[in-house]
Amino acid sequence: MQKTILSGVKPTGRPHLGNYFGAMKQFVELQNKNKDGINYFFIADYHALNLIQNAKEIRELSLGVVIDFLAIGLDPKKSVIFKQSDIQEHTELAWIFDTITTVPYLKRAHAYKDALTKGKEEEVSAGTFTYPMLMAADILLYDTDIVPVGQDQKQHIEFARDTAEKFNRIFGETFKIPDAYIVKNAETVLGTDGKKMSKSYNNTIPLFATDEEIEKTVMSIVTDSSGERPENVFAIHSLFKSKEELEKVYKENKGKYKVLKEALIKDLKDFIKPMRKKREKIASDKEAVYKILEEGKKKARATARAKMQRVKKVIGVD
Ligand code: ADP
Ligand code: TRP
Repeated sequence: MQKTILSGVKPTGRPHLGNYFGAMKQFVELQNKNKDGINYFFIADYHALNLIQNAKEIRELSLGVVIDFLAIGLDPKKSVIFKQSDIQEHTELAWIFDTITTVPYLKRAHAYKDALTKGKEEEVSAGTFTYPMLMAADILLYDTDIVPVGQDQKQHIEFARDTAEKFNRIFGETFKIPDAYIVKNAETVLGTDGKKMSKSYNNTIPLFATDEEIEKTVMSIVTDSSGERPENVFAIHSLFKSKEELEKVYKENKGKYKVLKEALIKDLKDFIKPMRKKREKIASDKEAVYKILEEGKKKARATARAKMQRVKKVIGVD
C-alpha cells in the first residue's frame, strides 16, 4: 500500500473503547499495511482548546495521547506522530478556508449543533463554529488519501472534501480529495447506557482501565430484560471476540446476566492488561516521548511548509 493516512485525536480525557475500536485500532492496522506510504497521527490540541482552557491540564492530556498512541502500537519508525500546535500551517490554512466558507454551511456541522444542544448559542465559541475548517486544514495540508475515524466524524471529512473542491474550483487544482475510513462493526461503539460511548456522556469503559474499573463499569452496564440476551453486554463483548464464539456462551447462559457480565469482565481484563502494562512502561520515560514528538514535528513541518508555499502562491500572497 502506498497512501497518505492521517488522523487526529483531541486531548480531552482518557481514551475509551469507542475511540479504540472506532478509530485508533485502525490507525495501527493501516500503519502496518501502508509500508510504502506515509502515516500521520497527531494530537489535536488546538481543537481541544475549545474545551480545555488550563495550561497544566492540556499539557498533561496532550502528552497522554502520545503515550496512548505508542501503547496501542503506533510506531514512530512507521508513523509521523506530532502535535497540531507545533505546525503553524494548520491554523494558517484554516483561516484561508474560513474565507471561502459561508456561515450557513458551517451551521450544519455536527460539532456546532452538539454545542448548541449543550448550552446557549451565546456560549458557543467561534472556534467551535469554525472547527470543521481547522479539521479540513489538518487533513488537506498533507495531501491525505485516507482518514480513519468513527462515524461521528464522517460529516467533518465531507466538509474537508467540499472545501478542497471549492478551493480547487476557485484557485485551480491544489488539494487532493480525502476519503473517510470507517469500519462497519465499530462505526459507533455504544456505552454502558446503550447510547454512543463518549467522554462527555459518562458512559465509557476506559481503554487502559484498571481491573477494578473494568469490574465497576461492566457491572453498571444497563441490561434490558425483555430481549433474548443482554444486548449492551453482547455488543461490547463482540468488539473483540467472534460472534460465533459468543453466541454459544450467551445461549448456554441465557438469562444469567451476572454470569455473562463476569465473562465480559474476564475477557476485558485479558484484553486490556497487556496494553495497560505497556502504557505504564512508556509513561515512565517521558523524555523518550518528547523526543518522538520533536522528530514528528520536523517531518510534518517539512511537508506542511511546502504545501503552504504552494497555497500562498495560488491565492496570490506569496
Ligand atoms: P469523544 O467523542 O469520546 O470525545 P474524540 O472526539 O476524542 O472522542 O474521538 C476520537 C476518535 O474516536 C474519532 O475518530 C471518533 O470518531 C472516534 N470515536 C469516538 N467515540 C466513538 C464511538 N462511540 N464509536 C466509534 N468511534 C468513536
Ligand atoms: N475532530 C476529530 C474528533 O473530534 C479530531 C480531529 C481533528 C481529526 N482533526 C482531525 C480527525 C483530522 C481526523 C482528521 O475526534
